Amino acid sequence: MSTHIAAAPGEIAPIVLFPGDPLRAKWIAETFLEDAVCYSEVRGMLGFTGTWNGHRVSVQGSGMGQPSMAIYATELFSDYDVQTIVRVGSCGALTEKVGMRDIIIANGACTDSGINRVRFHGLDYAPVADFSLLRAAVEASETVELDSAVHVGLLFSSDQFYSTRPELTEPFVQHGALAVEMEAAGLYTLAAFHGRRALAICTVSDHLVTHEETTAQEREQTFRDMVEIALRAATA
Ligand code: ADE
Repeated sequence: MSTHIAAAPGEIAPIVLFPGDPLRAKWIAETFLEDAVCYSEVRGMLGFTGTWNGHRVSVQGSGMGQPSMAIYATELFSDYDVQTIVRVGSCGALTEKVGMRDIIIANGACTDSGINRVRFHGLDYAPVADFSLLRAAVEASETVELDSAVHVGLLFSSDQFYSTRPELTEPFVQHGALAVEMEAAGLYTLAAFHGRRALAICTVSDHLVTHEETTAQEREQTFRDMVEIALRAATA
């Protein structure tokens, strides 16, 4: 096992879907995978491996925020030789260009995170999605019948859910950021460092401009669409 994941070598597939919530990982495994087996319960951060359309796929909870996500992504890349990680998560819309339950396929992610500032000695790195995954996700979104609109654009990966300075996101919105979440920038940076593929796909669960929120039932349907896109893209 690695420090935070209790899987034996070979128990994690080369393709991993990566929701923040470990119970979402369980739901994805039970809903989409055949013969899913739980390989880790360490700290309640559940991970499962099964098959989807004949492809071995794992689903691993990442926890919330870049520090937690980075622990699991690093161990997946370094200790389990994972080649592809697709984050499937939720986000808060920052602009009226984006509606509730829309799906955002992130071609890149801005961040206020100290993690990248330390990593790049205060200089600015541009965390971007793997292009083959991005293209496959866009193609999948055109094939799957969806309830929601799909956008390709920037996420803002924040270190704080409860920001005391929400106005700090304004310049990012003026420069194209569509929604805020808490993991994509760190994931893209780590994938680049390890020479692996990563993509973040998020559904809009709350709206910071209109202050709307989704019901649990609405979130589940959109989550299904997003997971379908993620599985098709990762196995294309
Ligand atoms: N994930 C979903 N909604 C969010 C928000 N408003 N801020 C940060 N992450 C989120």
